[in-house]
Amino acid sequence: MNRTDDLNKWKRAVELAMQELIDSSEMPKRLRDAMAYSLEAGGKRIRPALVYAVLETYGMSLERGREVAASLEMVHTYSLIHDDLPAMDDDDLRRGRPTNHRQFDEATAILAGDALLTDAFRILTQMPLSALDIVEIIRIFGLAAGSSGMVGGQLDDMLAEKRNDVTLEELQSIHERKTGALLVYALEAGAILAGASVEDRMHLKQFGRHLGIAFQIQDDILDVVGDEETIGKRVGSDELNDKTTYPKLLGLEGAKQALDQEVEAAQAAIESLSVPAPLLLEMLSFVVKRNH
Ligand code: IPE
Ligand code: IPE
Ligand code: MG
Ligand code: MG
Ligand code: MG
Repeated sequence: MNRTDDLNKWKRAVELAMQELIDSSEMPKRLRDAMAYSLEAGGKRIRPALVYAVLETYGMSLERGREVAASLEMVHTYSLIHDDLPAMDDDDLRRGRPTNHRQFDEATAILAGDALLTDAFRILTQMPLSALDIVEIIRIFGLAAGSSGMVGGQLDDMLAEKRNDVTLEELQSIHERKTGALLVYALEAGAILAGASVEDRMHLKQFGRHLGIAFQIQDDILDVVGDEETIGKRVGSDELNDKTTYPKLLGLEGAKQALDQEVEAAQAAIESLSVPAPLLLEMLSFVVKRNH
């Protein structure tokens, strides 16, 4: 099977799981519409794909990752809805459609995000795992998505706007938290679901760390050179918001070199695993070669 087939299969699996999970809870119609609007808009589904890629690497069924994959994509989608709000990046295009607050209204968009985040944690309690594993997965998910992870990174990203003295170190720390943390979580949760050894879990996290930085560097590059139609969001949003990004600090060429370094480090982590992991290497090349 090739990469596109794998990605499509994983995409279908997580989209079906999210639909079933949302359909099974009771809520106001407008809230369901707003949540479904952003969930169904598409997106690359990279985070669930990483969970599934780890499971397949260890010969496990995709079904085992159902709740982790769906809840991860829900939290990611909430982060995008809030990221686009006027108080944050103030964007009007996402996944090729008007942003949630443009399609509905700000209050609905905020609440749709809140619901996606909160429901995601409830869904995790339904995992067919031991209570210990469930608590551990919820713990690392909370760490990755919360104040010490994604949300903290988003705040520092906002604080860094319009500052001209942001160092590369600071920028890396922002990237690691706002984008990297959820990607590292995808790999670590996959490792727990697959019953991987402590050593492999460590190497998978290391892979995720470098993949995460590479992913956000490519996101920053696409914000400069991407095609609006293809990426489904506005190009030039970072410059408009006076963001510090890799291309801004290092220039486009410098950003590409930094990306290559992260790729090499990510490959080294995969080579340290106790099992061959071609699917994870494919995911890495997808992330850096992506044009959307
Ligand atoms: C965009 O994430 C926001 C970042 C964390 C850089 P994705 O590029 O994964 O967005 P979708 O899910 O494909 O829309
Ligand atoms: C946002 O980074 C990362 C999130 C946690 C949502 P960006 O602001 O660069 O994401 P895009 O470019 O709007 O997708
Ligand atoms: Mg942002
Ligand atoms: Mg943004
Ligand atoms: Mg961006």
